[in-house]
Amino acid sequence: MTAAEDRYDATPYLPGRGGLAALREAAAGCHGCPLHRAATQTVFGAGGTSARLLLVGEQPGDQEDRKGHPFVGPAGGVLNRALEEAGIDPDDTYVTNAVKHFKFTQSGPGKRRIHKAPDLREMRACRPWLAAELRLVDPDVVVALGATAGKALLGPSFRVTRDRGVALPLPPLDGHGDEEGEGVVVATLHPSAVLRADDEEQARAYAGLVADLRVAGRLLG
Ligand code: URA
Ligand code: SF4
Repeated sequence: MTAAEDRYDATPYLPGRGGLAALREAAAGCHGCPLHRAATQTVFGAGGTSARLLLVGEQPGDQEDRKGHPFVGPAGGVLNRALEEAGIDPDDTYVTNAVKHFKFTQSGPGKRRIHKAPDLREMRACRPWLAAELRLVDPDVVVALGATAGKALLGPSFRVTRDRGVALPLPPLDGHGDEEGEGVVVATLHPSAVLRADDEEQARAYAGLVADLRVAGRLLG
């Protein structure tokens, strides 16, 4: 490992000024950690600054990496269905990920790309982008989808099973976040966990996701 890799950090790539468009453009050139090397492109958040609900996933998947947009693959299908069932219009949300590049291993004859969870250093390196998105969108409610998003927003002691489905205060992120501490976050399962669950568990997992999203929806009033 080189000395530069020792300090994974997106901060030097963040623009000093500008809105969401400037942020997205700058993120396209981020080399803040090694994940940009194997991935196709940065997958930045999608949605407008008027969104009152901001959802945070883990990292782009295979299809997101190819298309350049978050939650456009199978997990996105589950998420959009659950949002609608919870009475939330997906078009009124801002959707992003804790880590903006796809991390994967490639093996087998077809060289299928298999998702790998980002580690703590990559999450920490990428967090300035998430903090900047939070600052610019300034949502009323944040939803953490799964353990990675929960840890990125609430710290390493976060546990999905223990902390999901309730309104929690959103702490400031690296000083970039909501310094007045008015933010609120609701954590839930990652939609991919619904897809991974066996037949028996799947309906229950999905219902749990919808129920937690309803909690977030109620907080929007
Ligand atoms: N899973 C995520 O966490 N984010 C995406 O964008 C797609 C799948
Ligand atoms: Fe930058 Fe995040 Fe991509 Fe790492 S994962 S290169 S920090 S955008």
